[in-house]
Amino acid sequence: MSLASPAAGHTQAGGPAAPGEQQGSVVVPEPRSMRSDAAAGPAQASPGESGAGPVLRVDGVSFGYPGRRGALAAVDNVSFTLPVGGLGVLVGPSGCGKSTLLRLVAGLLEPTAGTIDLAGVAPARLRRDRRVGFAFQDPGLLSWRSVRRNIELPFDLARLPKDSAWVDHLLEITNLADWANRRPRELSGGMRQRVALARALATRPDVLLLDEPFGALDEITRADLNFELLRIVADTGTTCLLVTHSVDEAVLLADTVVVLGPRPCRVHATHTVDVPRGDRRELRDSAEFAARCREIRSALEAAR
Ligand SMILES: Nc1ncnc2c1ncn2[C@@H]1O[C@H](COP(=O)(O)OP(=O)(O)OP(=O)(O)O)[C@@H](O)[C@H]1O
Ligand SMILES: [Mg+2]
Repeated sequence: MSLASPAAGHTQAGGPAAPGEQQGSVVVPEPRSMRSDAAAGPAQASPGESGAGPVLRVDGVSFGYPGRRGALAAVDNVSFTLPVGGLGVLVGPSGCGKSTLLRLVAGLLEPTAGTIDLAGVAPARLRRDRRVGFAFQDPGLLSWRSVRRNIELPFDLARLPKDSAWVDHLLEITNLADWANRRPRELSGGMRQRVALARALATRPDVLLLDEPFGALDEITRADLNFELLRIVADTGTTCLLVTHSVDEAVLLADTVVVLGPRPCRVHATHTVDVPRGDRRELRDSAEFAARCREIRSALEAAR
């Protein structure tokens, strides 16, 4: 296990590697091995780039918020890619630029340098086409709408016909079917966050962006939702990029953890969790899990 700083901030948040798969200069020996990469070097092969489908590609992206005394640099030369169906997790200190990075990927902000695309499509166009789903820490549900009508909101905003069968399915997989006609005030915090997750998935987005979606929850509810999220992502095949402050959550969920340094955030290191998603429950109670968490915490410390 070793971590090295990236030379040019370029890294890859790829999916779990197959045994013996060539990843740049690194040969991944066996599944369930622990591996942390130096984040430097050329883009490496991943399922999404080898013909299996599109990837989310963030390439040399920088961003500064304009201000009266000059721009406030928030993101500096960040690069990573995600294969289709991949789950990348961003961790970094508070205020380093994680939410800004998500807003850039969402096409809500334009990079001042670098590019972001999904199979060659710019984020703003993806967003217009409703191919990006968001869920934020504050679920932001409309109090006067039922659970079902909240999940249907993206269809109304885009003036798209409702896909009722898909909404039924989302209600099922988020365990909200019995609550479809209730109002948000009748739900617990965790249920509201599940509604926000279902709403983010309403238009079957190619990319799901989650900004500390479970931050306000107790440990047990949070772990339950983490496992639900893994199931939902597997179910829908959505590529997911998630921000969290919890290192445990990062290791539980991610194919790749991208460790960011302080503002303006740069990629400090990546950690590949090459453990099948179906084995994550067992992983959580293992010494391997503790070792992975320790490694990421050390990387966060070193990035300060
Ligand atoms: N709309 C804005 N205008 C100006 N500056 C902003 C704006 N939004 C964020 N910032 C600044 O950009 C920097 C990065 O903010 P950002 O919200 O991306 O951090 P973060 O990593 O998500 O933090 P946290 O973990 O606390 O949520 C901060 O210094 C913040 O003050
Ligand atoms: Mg944030």
